[in-house]
Amino acid sequence: MGPQAPGAQPKLPIPGVENIIAVGSGKGGVGKTTVAVNLAITLAKLGYDVGLLDADVYGPNVPLMMGVRATPHAIGQRIQPLSAYGIKLMSMGFLNPGDKPLVWRGPMLNSVMQQFLRSVDWGNLDYLVIDLPPGTGDVQLTLIQTTPLTGAVIVTTPSDVSLEDARKAVHMFEQVREEVLGIVENMSFLDCPHCGKRIDVFSHGGGARTAKEMNVPLLAEIPLDPMTRLGGDTGKPIASLDEPHTQKTAFEKLAQAVIERASDSKQKATPTIEISE
Ligand SMILES: Nc1ncnc2c1ncn2[C@@H]1O[C@H](COP(=O)(O)OP(=O)(O)OP(=O)(O)O)[C@@H](O)[C@H]1O
Ligand SMILES: [Mg+2]
Repeated sequence: MGPQAPGAQPKLPIPGVENIIAVGSGKGGVGKTTVAVNLAITLAKLGYDVGLLDADVYGPNVPLMMGVRATPHAIGQRIQPLSAYGIKLMSMGFLNPGDKPLVWRGPMLNSVMQQFLRSVDWGNLDYLVIDLPPGTGDVQLTLIQTTPLTGAVIVTTPSDVSLEDARKAVHMFEQVREEVLGIVENMSFLDCPHCGKRIDVFSHGGGARTAKEMNVPLLAEIPLDPMTRLGGDTGKPIASLDEPHTQKTAFEKLAQAVIERASDSKQKATPTIEISE
């Protein structure tokens, strides 16, 4: 959790939840949910207790990507999360399934988010990953201002249009004094299955350049990969497969970087007590 902005309300911790990692972006469609889902599964495979909260209430894709269609029930006042691949899950998509759009305005969204954070029986978690909606709007801002985040992971593609918006997302977190754990360059390149050459579909290296400019780490470069898209569409994310795959290695690198940065961020946030002799 980063230091509080002057005059800000204290953010109450979520009992039992050790680290909260928000996955955001400036631009839509750059792979936030794909990164959040595969990061969560990779962390669970490393032996951690993991939850995944889908904060994209208008376009919740976590149920499809995790292959879960069910309705959560409550025990007393506590909503029981669903589960897949060993991860506890909550999403508006479980409560409003199908193609009907949600026609809610800001205050309703903010209150449902608070319920998802605080009335869901998350139990003991090492990591709660939050898949944010795209952009830097009111819902994202309210959520990060009321949640004791360990830090944020910003997803971008290497294209200039995505990077321009990624910089805004980094600034949003910095403005509210939240730690940016780093940038992920997704859809970084494509290894052509036919000729074997690398194709820089959305350009390449913009994530590294932007990370350097903004003085935040580049956590990983995740290639563009048809199996990753297929895994998302069929509810069998690439990180859940047993067989080795280069894409799984890329997500393992990301998970390790997130673990290290989260631990650094927590140490920074812990006030040191000076003991005088
Ligand atoms: N590295 C990748 N390789 C191949 N396909 C990918 C990759 N990352 C994401 N995709 C695909 O791109 C599409 C958009 O990804 P995703 O839904 O994760 O983006 P998003 O940023 O969460 O979008 P939104 O802003 O709408 O929430 C999906 O079909 C997903 O499967
Ligand atoms: Mg998404």
